[in-house]
Amino acid sequence: MTTLLRALHADITTLAVDAIVNAANSCLLGGGGVDGAIHRAAGRELLHACQALRGCDTGDAKLTSGYQLPASYIIHTVGPVWRGGASGEAELLASCYRRTIEIAAAQKLRTLAIPSISTGVYGYPIEQAASIAVATVRASTKAVGGIDEVSFCCFSDGDLRVYQNLLGNTASQA
Ligand code: AR6
Repeated sequence: MTTLLRALHADITTLAVDAIVNAANSCLLGGGGVDGAIHRAAGRELLHACQALRGCDTGDAKLTSGYQLPASYIIHTVGPVWRGGASGEAELLASCYRRTIEIAAAQKLRTLAIPSISTGVYGYPIEQAASIAVATVRASTKAVGGIDEVSFCCFSDGDLRVYQNLLGNTASQA
């Protein structure tokens, strides 16, 4: 079975998919950017659920319910801070996407939306990050099977163009 990979321009908190992915920090207690938006939209219950998880390592991911979001679940992953590229950033970023897909498959989730992890506050250059995102999601969805669609949710036209170029403009089959 193939997984449809696509890019779209949206606020990820509005998407009615099985799970959205959060670009969190290792405390998992909320923050700015997409993390702040997800916590605001999901409500206080999300904070309580995250407190019980006792943090998350960089490159790993953890699952919670979506609470007041249209999405059923949230997969929280912690991307690397960009330090110039020689500190294992690429491996850690790939690990975020791989762990996210593994958790989605274990939970039998079929539709996911993923923001551009590490490319905001954490400063990862978008072209390099997007290329890792697409390659890792393509390989991981093929490895696990059962995931119908992964949307790369972009928050700017510039990011959308980068993902569309990598995906062959509109959509791509993994
Ligand atoms: N929907 C989709 N994408 C969004 C949204 C949204 N509502 N809001 C922002 N983005 P960032 P990071 C995009 O900074 O770099 C937090 O404080 C944004 O434009 O959210 O992994 C955490 O607590 C960018 O393309 O995450 C951590 O401390 C992308 O999401 C830290 O930031 C990621 O930007 C994580 O930094």
